[in-house]
This record gives sequence, C-alpha cells and structure tokens, in this order.
Amino acid sequence: MLFESQHPLVKHKLTLLRHVDTKPKQFRELVRELTQFLGYEATQDLSLADVQVPTPMGEAPGHALQQKIGLVPILRAGLGMVDALLEHIPAVQVWHLGMYRDEETLEPVSYYNKLPPQTTVDTCLVLDPMLATGGSAIATVTVLKRWGVKRIKFLGLIAAPEGVEALQNAFPGVDIHVAVVDERLNDIGFIVPGLGDAGDRQFGTFA
Ligand code: PRP
Repeated sequence: MLFESQHPLVKHKLTLLRHVDTKPKQFRELVRELTQFLGYEATQDLSLADVQVPTPMGEAPGHALQQKIGLVPILRAGLGMVDALLEHIPAVQVWHLGMYRDEETLEPVSYYNKLPPQTTVDTCLVLDPMLATGGSAIATVTVLKRWGVKRIKFLGLIAAPEGVEALQNAFPGVDIHVAVVDERLNDIGFIVPGLGDAGDRQFGTFA
C-alpha cells in the first residue's frame, strides 16, 4: 500500500525542504522533523502486548511494544532520518546498508552490509528520503527478506511514480510511506520537481 501523508505540517515542511535556497543546516532539521511525522504515521499499526504498570496509586493496565524493530538507513541520505526515530523508539536496532546508484546505469551498487547471519529483528523500517527508480529500495528489501525479516516498510520523503510502481511490483507486501509522490523521473533518474540530491543537500557536498 502507498501512504502519501496528508498532514498540513508535512506539506508545509516539505515545501521548505524543496526550496533551492534551503541550506544544509535547515535541510537536515527539516528531514528530521518530517521523519518524525512520517514515522508517527508509519508506526500506527505496530502491535502491542498488554502489561500491568505499577503507579503510585496502584496497578494500571498498559501496553508495551511487542516486536523487535530495525531501522535500516540507506547510506548516505537515509542517515538523516535515523535520529528522528531513535529518539521516539529508543529500543530499535539500527542496521546501516550502503548503497549508491551507478550514475550511468542507475543500478544500485552495494558497498556496506554488516548484517549478521541470523536475523535479529521482526519488523524493519527502510529509511531513504528519495525513491527514484526504486532500485536501491528493491535491493535493500531483497537483502532484508533474505535475512529473514517478516515485515518491512519503506519510509521516504519524495517518491517518483516509477519508483513506487517498481517497489510495489517487486514487493506488494511492503508499505510505502512518503510525504509526496512527485510528477516523474527525468532522463538522468532525478525526481522532478523533487529537491535535487538529498545526500548532497544534507551534507553540503556540492561538486
Ligand atoms: C540516492 C537516494 C537513494 C537513491 C534513489 O542516493 O538517496 O538512495 O539515490 O534512487 P533509486 O530509487 O533510483 O535507486 P545516491 O545514490 O545519490 O547516494 P547518496 O545517498 O550517497 O547520495
């Protein structure tokens, strides 16, 4: 399923994020803030166990998160989305995967993967601000499925329709949560209108 946020704060912040004059410091803050909102929406269906909680006045019924959750940022750009979620779900595990797009072929190239042989999480949130052709997300989900993760969601900021379609075709069970689905991909694989390169804009690495 595709979930495109309808929240006014998300729409407002996304507009600031896209702006050509937004500098890396503000860009990083906005990525973080948007991730908090999108993460809130994407975690609505996490399952809970019933627990009892002792209060100063006695016992109260309560709830505890049941599953083991992994955050999987795709390097580099996904890094900026990690802290926003770690702050609110401190018990998560963070498993980094390094993936870059070959500029000629647009195919993802894996360069960092330190997953142990046995899976340690039930549910993963794949973090990457941009879903362009979908190649990086598909490669990541493939790795996580092979690792044995049962439930996977993709959390991004801007998607191209082409990337959404590719990821949904490859993995219909993976929910996609984004702030917006833009118009299209251009001939060099950038999302239009998009925001440019989310990695470079966060880390100030402009050639
Ligand atoms: C960008 C982006 C995604 C990928 C999306 O990363 O952050 O990871 O491209 O494209 P796709 O859907 O067509 O695979 P990039 O390769 O520029 O690496 P970076 O994050 O290190 O800048």
